Amino acid sequence: MNKSVPLGADLSRALFAADLVEGLSAAPKATPPKWFYDAEGSRLFGEITRLPEYYPTRTETALLRRIGPEIARAVGPDRSVVEFGSGSADKAALLLAALNRPAGYVCVEIDPGAARATAAEVARRFPGLPTRGVAGDFTNLKAQPAAAHATHRLGFFPGSTIGNFDPPEAATLLSDMREHLGRGAQLLLGVDLVKDAATLEAAYDDAAGVTAAFNLNLLVRANRELGAGFDLDAFAHEARWNAEASRIEMHLRALQPTSATIDGESFRFAPGETIHTESSYKYTPEGVAALAERGGWRTKQLWTDPKGWFALALLGA
Ligand SMILES: C[S@@+](CC[C@H](N)C(=O)[O-])C[C@H]1O[C@@H](n2cnc3c(N)ncnc32)[C@H](O)[C@@H]1O
Repeated sequence: MNKSVPLGADLSRALFAADLVEGLSAAPKATPPKWFYDAEGSRLFGEITRLPEYYPTRTETALLRRIGPEIARAVGPDRSVVEFGSGSADKAALLLAALNRPAGYVCVEIDPGAARATAAEVARRFPGLPTRGVAGDFTNLKAQPAAAHATHRLGFFPGSTIGNFDPPEAATLLSDMREHLGRGAQLLLGVDLVKDAATLEAAYDDAAGVTAAFNLNLLVRANRELGAGFDLDAFAHEARWNAEASRIEMHLRALQPTSATIDGESFRFAPGETIHTESSYKYTPEGVAALAERGGWRTKQLWTDPKGWFALALLGA
């Protein structure tokens, strides 16, 4: 019963080019993180989740496993799950196994290969469950077909992907999700919490250099898809904790004067200049509840792991 919806026109090369042109024209230069996730970006992210330094996946997965029965009780039976930015099927499978008579599963995922693979894997693990992989952008939910199957939907937004958005954008995104999910919706939201800077910085700058490869893959993709001509040896990966903004920032720092061209527009980089490629905001539990409220949700329950490193919040519309 697994059905994949083809890639929408909104995910075209033209949008990638337009986002890069806009981001590289800004001061300071910054690009949206969603363009990391071509097939190679998704593969590298999968590798990141298994790194010793990358605590978020392990911590959230263990928490989900532990509180599964509590989530099931709080959520109620016959829920249709809509996952935003699934990556792999692992967390969805844990959630679906815990829920009482899940009614269906949809993932909205920007990497078409990952959308297909996740839906197929969920269908394989849960025979008979209506399953659909939508290759689409969850920041543009109005362009997506309305979530199918049941009226009482459970949104699932794990991985602290919400942290990639500046707080006002994050609140808007949560509000759009509420509208998309419809009446009686709930949302299970995974959020990484504030902790010591060394742990945070190591998670985004691992010893094996996988996160560096993930960051640089943005330029590899721009060269392949847009013929941008970035000199890959002229940029280095950087991860820093910005305590004031409560976020990890990933940058690509120019090591020498260099340039690239996209759609006839030329961009110059001075030595030391950076492209800010991703933010990962870290919240306190109170901050999670306040963000949810700004997005029009009410926090019904919030769980953390024993170290207080990661939170799962169940929100009600
Ligand atoms: C940080 S990873 C998290 C993956 C997985 N949910 C987890 O918990 O490990 C973000 C995921 O969201 C997807 N993604 C990022 N931006 C997106 C967007 N705007 N629309 C849809 N999917 C997006 C990426 O392709 C990737 O699979």
